Amino acid sequence: MGCTVVVDGFFGDAGKGKIVSYLSLKDDAEICARAGVGPNAGHTVVMNNTTYKLRMIPCGFINPKTRLFIGPGVAVNPEILLKEIAEHNVERRVGIDPQCAIIENRHLEIDRSGHLSSIIQTTGSGTGPCNADRALRIAKMAREFPELKRFIIDVPGEVNRALDEKKNVIVEATQGTYISLYHGTYPFVTSKDVCASAACSDVGIGPTRVDDVVIVFKSYVTRVGAGDLPGELSPDEVKRRGWDEYGTVTGRLRRASPFNFDLAKRAVMLNGATQIALTKLDVLYPSCKGITEFEKLCREAKEFIQKIEEELKLKVSLIGTGPSLEEIIDRRKAYL
Ligand code: IMP
Ligand code: MG
Repeated sequence: MGCTVVVDGFFGDAGKGKIVSYLSLKDDAEICARAGVGPNAGHTVVMNNTTYKLRMIPCGFINPKTRLFIGPGVAVNPEILLKEIAEHNVERRVGIDPQCAIIENRHLEIDRSGHLSSIIQTTGSGTGPCNADRALRIAKMAREFPELKRFIIDVPGEVNRALDEKKNVIVEATQGTYISLYHGTYPFVTSKDVCASAACSDVGIGPTRVDDVVIVFKSYVTRVGAGDLPGELSPDEVKRRGWDEYGTVTGRLRRASPFNFDLAKRAVMLNGATQIALTKLDVLYPSCKGITEFEKLCREAKEFIQKIEEELKLKVSLIGTGPSLEEIIDRRKAYL
């Protein structure tokens, strides 16, 4: 496995949390390194009937042996981070880079007023204003905060050393390709590029170190906040199909459309994806719920997957059939 980058091919909320947790456990990752913007992300992980919600700690926390790092590209809210560390009892495994930018109260205030709130409809988590301050060279860094001192570690140094030692490393991107500051539907985007190359930069690895880029697509598309969503269904239709979801961070009803092959193709290109993880297949085809063998999927579900593989010219190697980590089809071995 070596170095695997996990990215979202649509607008976020595809279920990266589940895929990252599964890979950390299954492939016994030495390190799970969090990339992406910051606590605007909300990840849900379900295992053994327990639901975990995370905004700062990498989803690899589910494997007790995995070290959990936050790369220098990520904006950190110390309050949220420290609370999650205590809640999940991961003190001894967490490391944050001295150069993570720190979200302060004034960033939250700016993010919750003016055009960011009313027009862009951000998550209000302060990440955009914090990144603006970073660009202005006035943001505070993690190294300046005594309460973070015991967690400070050279994340790029640790990640590259683990790769030199042939250990498995997962780089966890956040948000989604089409809310990237560069490649998304500007101005209705987040405050950074969030594609695979940016994720590498966030944790301090060069592009030559990456072995696999797993692109995560949900079986349908959702979007929260403002901005174009081609093929958008009415809220009533979204509910009728059972596709209604509510944001982990904001509680907002997500907008939805059917799987979009054009967007998916471009996302594969932008991220240099090598494999596809398809999530929530059971929401489209309820008979697939909990299935762990490909052969047992219904005909329609198999045809849908075949169509994705043909159109995107990539293998669908992981298939989510329910919220829990155990509800997954892992076809990777078949392709080795
Ligand atoms: P910001 O990242 O909070 O500045 O929000 C900018 C846009 O990105 C808004 O439309 C948010 O709803 C969206 N967004 C930010 N983070 C996520 C995420 O983790 N999942 C889905 N949408 C997100
Ligand atoms: Mg989310």
